[in-house]
Amino acid sequence: MGSLTFLVAVACTLTTVQSASVSKRETLTIATDKYHNYNDLQALLRQLVSNYPNLARVYDVGTSMGGRKLSVIQISDRVNEREVGEPRFKYIGNIHGNEAVGREVILYLAQYLLYNYGTDPRVTQLVDTTDIHLMPTLNPDGFEISREGECDNVVGRTNNNGVDLNRNFPDQYWMTGTIQAETQAVMDWIKTQPNFVLSASLQCVTLVAAYPFDDHQYGDISSGLYAATPDDATFKALAKSYANAHPTMHFGRGCGGNDNFKDGIINGAEWLTVAGGMQDYNYLNSNTFEITIEISCCRYPNSSELASYWNDNRNALLTYIEQTHMGVKGVVKTSDGTPIANAQVRVSGIDYTMNTSDLGEYWRLLIPGTYSISFSVEGYTTASTSVTVSSGSPVVLNVTFDTSTKQGSITQG
Ligand SMILES: *[C@@H]1O[C@H](CO)[C@@H](O)[C@H](O)[C@H]1NC(C)=O
Ligand SMILES: *[C@@H]1O[C@H](CO)[C@@H](O)[C@H](O)[C@H]1NC(C)=O
Ligand SMILES: *[C@@H]1O[C@H](CO)[C@@H](O)[C@H](O)[C@H]1NC(C)=O
Repeated sequence: MGSLTFLVAVACTLTTVQSASVSKRETLTIATDKYHNYNDLQALLRQLVSNYPNLARVYDVGTSMGGRKLSVIQISDRVNEREVGEPRFKYIGNIHGNEAVGREVILYLAQYLLYNYGTDPRVTQLVDTTDIHLMPTLNPDGFEISREGECDNVVGRTNNNGVDLNRNFPDQYWMTGTIQAETQAVMDWIKTQPNFVLSASLQCVTLVAAYPFDDHQYGDISSGLYAATPDDATFKALAKSYANAHPTMHFGRGCGGNDNFKDGIINGAEWLTVAGGMQDYNYLNSNTFEITIEISCCRYPNSSELASYWNDNRNALLTYIEQTHMGVKGVVKTSDGTPIANAQVRVSGIDYTMNTSDLGEYWRLLIPGTYSISFSVEGYTTASTSVTVSSGSPVVLNVTFDTSTKQGSITQG
């Protein structure tokens, strides 16, 4: 019960052959029998990179106040190259150090993607088309002092300075205190090129997918007020994609009691106003759409329950990454082939500007519908067109701005 083994088809056919295939099988076991403390986590990430050097890479985005690395495992085909047009995705776990389930399922997800690449078509497709970045813990210090089996205890929630990291990001309305090392690391990370397209923070303690905004100008006393982003319809669809792919989240009952989340999703501010939350900061300061997913009723359940959390979340974790591929995407260039960075991409009726990346790329997440989309570059006439988005793959719209006429032309793929 403590561990789940995923045998790839090849390994199955070789089970009786020889010892080489037996050791291959052992590397494909995702051990869910105990939590990974800081040293175990670091060792596992490095082991994965050494076993899968062409698919995985580890890097650190900073150091916690307590001196621990904020490590990320990046998983993609050709992981050491910058592939033009490939969207970046991230999961962040354990922003509250005592909320341990996200930390573990992210580690299982990393193993699942690597062990099944090349044999499972769904995993292969995801890893081939997406640049996936997984940060199991943003609060390694808090985790080290948290205790297994504690569902409600708050020891370890904050960082070493006693600061709740999900209240520490610069906020659109409120002052949120001295920026901590962990917060600054994320602020720097999300500025890297190209910006992440989609992201989620895995937290506790209920079952719901919450989407921005997390607060409004009326302050804490006004909890219960819906604070819609301009991309409200898209955020709802993103949150639903996770809740629907989870066996119980979409029932909307959370953990029982007074929880009642229609379809298993809720607007952050309407539910529980948070100033300084990470998801709002992502949307307002980069082109990243981030939601917060609460995946467990117990903050730090006994390790004997980890296998069942992984079973409940595996499909939803994959489904949510797949949402990176929707809407409209493309590349903006000049007629001499030079990519245009910081071209502004706007959709009429949605008051949000997206900027192209350093290589002229953009990924405009949108739910199915017909939109008017425009591309603006300083010194050129704005180019616009009508585009119909359906579910499934994104529509490709490439834009070329003619350096002599100053007009743009849009090619649809
Ligand atoms: C975890 O296990 C301990 C010891 O077996 C037990 O006392 C405790 O109630 C368990 N906690 C949960 C949340 O199941
Ligand atoms: C896009 O570029 C504009 C103009 O340079 C800038 O003000 C804005 O903050 C950028 N938006 C994002 C989300 O980075
Ligand atoms: C759009 O541009 C990208 C990058 O240059 C290219 O790979 C793709 O084939 C182009 N698609 C269309 C429809 O022009």
